[in-house]
Amino acid sequence: MENRAAILGTGKSVQGRAITNQDLEKMVDTSDEWITARSGIKIRYFTDDQTAASDLATEAGRQALEMAGVDGADVDLFIVGTVTPDFAYPATACLVQHNLGNKKGAGFDQETGCSGFLYGLTIGEQFIKTGKCRYVLAIGVECLSKVMNMQDRGTCVLFGDGAGAALLGPSPDGKSGILDTFIKSDGSLGDLLKQPAGGSRMPASIETVTNNLHTIHMKGNKVFPLAVRCMEEAATTLMNRLGLTGEDLDVLITHQANLRIIQSLQKRLQVPDDKVFVNIDKYGNTSAASIPIAMDEAVRQGIIKKGNLVMLASFGAGFTWASAAIRW
Ligand code: UT7
Repeated sequence: MENRAAILGTGKSVQGRAITNQDLEKMVDTSDEWITARSGIKIRYFTDDQTAASDLATEAGRQALEMAGVDGADVDLFIVGTVTPDFAYPATACLVQHNLGNKKGAGFDQETGCSGFLYGLTIGEQFIKTGKCRYVLAIGVECLSKVMNMQDRGTCVLFGDGAGAALLGPSPDGKSGILDTFIKSDGSLGDLLKQPAGGSRMPASIETVTNNLHTIHMKGNKVFPLAVRCMEEAATTLMNRLGLTGEDLDVLITHQANLRIIQSLQKRLQVPDDKVFVNIDKYGNTSAASIPIAMDEAVRQGIIKKGNLVMLASFGAGFTWASAAIRW
C-alpha cells in the first residue's frame, strides 16, 4: 500500500549583506528604475567569504526539523538541489547530514537549476510512498553571488543567496500531503543558461578565470517566454490530472525569477491576485532556494493554512521544469 507523503516542517536561511538596487548602481551601468520595472527585485543577499551552501542548507534544514519536531538523527534521506555546492564533491547533502548529527541516512545532490527543490520533493515523495523512507529532508540552496560576473549587468542584478527546506514524512491523516508532482526537461535548451567552465568540458584554467567563464551566462530575454510556457505546462498538467481550475487553488508559489513572469503565468492559470505569494522584491532570484524560501514564509505568516490547496511551479537551467500540488 502506498503512503501519502506530506510536508511536516519548513525552514529558510538568508544570510549575509543586503544588496540594494542603489548599491548595484555604484557597481554597474544600471538603475533602480530598470531593475524594479524589468524584474520586481529590490534587495538580494550576498553571503560572506566564510559562508557556503552547506551552512545555509543546514540552518534551513534545522528549522524544518524543529517545526516538525523530528530529530536530525532520524532522517533517512537528504536531497539537496543546488548549482553552487560547497565542493564539486563531496555532495553538499552529505555535509548537511553530518552537520545535523545523522549517521543512519543517505544523501545526494542534484543539479536541476531553479527546479532543484521541486525535483528533490518529487524524488523524496517516491521514497516515502514506497515505504523505503520515513523522513526525507529536501533542500534547495544557492550561493549564486560566488559565481556571478559583477561586470555583466544582464545577470548580476538578478540573483541572490539563500536556502529553503522541507521535511517530508508520512501524511498524519492519510489525506493531506502531496497530491501529485510533475517533472520534465529539455536538454536542447541548455546553452541559454549555463556556467561554461569548471566541469570536464572546460576545466579550470587561467584563461577560463580571466574570461569569467566560471560565472552565470544567461540569455535572459530568450529564457523569459520559455519560463512562462513551461511553468504553465507544469501547473496545468497537475490541474488537469486532479480536475482543478485556477480558482480552486488557495496559494500559488512559482519560482521567483521575475515578477513579470509570475504575473503572466498567474494570468494564464487564471489565479486571482490574492492567491499568489511573491517575495522576489526581498531576495531576488535564489534559484533552487526560491520556492522553499517562499513556502516557508507563507507558512510562518499564516498565508498557507491547514487544508489549503497549494500549487508550486518551477523552471530553470537544463532546461528543467516541475510542479507539485499539495493539500496542506
Ligand atoms: O532562474 C532561471 C530562469 N531565469 C529567468 O527566468 C530569467 C528570465 N529573464 C528575465 O527575467 C528578463 O529577460 C531579464 C530581467 C533578464 C531582462 O529583462 P528584459 O525585459 O528581457 O530585457 P532585455 O534583456 O531584452 O534587455 C533590454 C535592454 C537592453 O538594452 P538595449 O539592447 O535595448 O539597448 C539591455 O542591454 O536593457 C538592457 N539591460 C539593462 N539596462 C539596465 C540589461 N540589463 C540591464 C540592467 N540595467 N541591469
